[in-house]
Amino acid sequence: MTDLSGKHILLGVSGGIAAYKIPNLVRLFKKSGAEVQVVMTQSAAQFVSPLTLATLSGRSALTEIFPDATNTQSAWTTHIHLGEWADCFVLAPATASTIAKLANGYSDDMLSVCFLTMRPNKPKLIFPSMDGEMFDAPAVQRNLKTLEQDGCVIVEPEIGELASGLIGKGRLPEPEKIFERVVEALLPKEKTLAGKQVVVTAGATREKIDSVRFISNYSSGKMGFALAAVAAELGAEVILITGKTHLQTPPNVHRIEVESAEEMFRETQRYFPTLDLFVAAAAVADYRPAEVYAGKLKKSSESLPLHLVKNPDILLEFGKQKKPHQVSIGFALEIQDALENAKAKLVLKNCDIIALNLAQEAGAGFEVDTNRLTLIFRDGTIEQLPLQTKRAAAKMIFKKANFFFQKSSLTSL
Ligand code: CTP
Repeated sequence: MTDLSGKHILLGVSGGIAAYKIPNLVRLFKKSGAEVQVVMTQSAAQFVSPLTLATLSGRSALTEIFPDATNTQSAWTTHIHLGEWADCFVLAPATASTIAKLANGYSDDMLSVCFLTMRPNKPKLIFPSMDGEMFDAPAVQRNLKTLEQDGCVIVEPEIGELASGLIGKGRLPEPEKIFERVVEALLPKEKTLAGKQVVVTAGATREKIDSVRFISNYSSGKMGFALAAVAAELGAEVILITGKTHLQTPPNVHRIEVESAEEMFRETQRYFPTLDLFVAAAAVADYRPAEVYAGKLKKSSESLPLHLVKNPDILLEFGKQKKPHQVSIGFALEIQDALENAKAKLVLKNCDIIALNLAQEAGAGFEVDTNRLTLIFRDGTIEQLPLQTKRAAAKMIFKKANFFFQKSSLTSL
């Protein structure tokens, strides 16, 4: 576990059902060696007991700005000291009402007043959690945007089963994931990709059949977006060429949205001469209908033969013209003879690394937030990565890519 000894975390808890996850988050922080001060709203106390959080954190869970006058240990200026004390502010779960308060500078409870006293250069992470409709409401989105402009990091809620019984966006990530994001915010990031141009392809392409139908696949784009986000955090100039997806563009990433494989190829090709690192994470359709029917095909006959022709292979085309200093990473989604197929792709497409994904493995592949990858390197070395978040996997991939950059800078000396 990452060592956070000496770090001070101000943990705001607002009143949503997901507050039940917070005791475990506090335990993780404590185990890592961090000090945790919980500040909670009155309604949060309806969902999780202040006594539980106080016991686990080893500090009173604060709800009131004004102290108990009989307690000489407490002072009404506590919030000011906490703003100074904290290395990081975390709000989880962040409800619509607390988000609105923070976005508008309210200071009528301990949580909101502490938020205002946070020192400007300290990370502030907001984890919204609520019903999907509420999350999408214009007022909530507007407030989140305001907080983002004020320098907060907004961590998107996850899609899954909600307290209402509906399936949608709004779930608070599990404590381990929140912990990981806080670690990232607290520990200094090395800008290992500064000065590098990184091009990432992501998502599924759509191949038109007629004006209203297309062929596609299940790729969500999450792996590619995680790669783009991490590359930008590592200081790279990032161009993300993606098929249609609802995922939000990560900060400092230039997004180019495309539809078909041919379009993705055209856009990506423009960067072939200048890029330093190409990461092909898109699930590009291998074939497209030979002809696109103008208008809507009518169901007039019993069967409809579709004649498909091959699409350009973007990674392969890059491999043909790759310069010695350029690095390329491909993905291989396999079901059978996985390792042999992945190795063959590495050679065929002239890649430096192939990240092998097993399509049928639980917790890996399309639509989920986690992945278990096996990295295959040019020299035949194989490294099995653990099941981890796509962000964590992305970080490991860039660590390995960096090794290639170091090697090429040594050989050019
Ligand atoms: N790729 C690409 N352009 C294509 C097809 C694939 O750039 N037209 C890239 C993918 O982004 C991935 C790698 O090539 O990085 C391997 O893709 P995959 O779909 O696993 O394999 P294919 O080469 O398409 O072969 P097959 O479908 O036969 O497994």
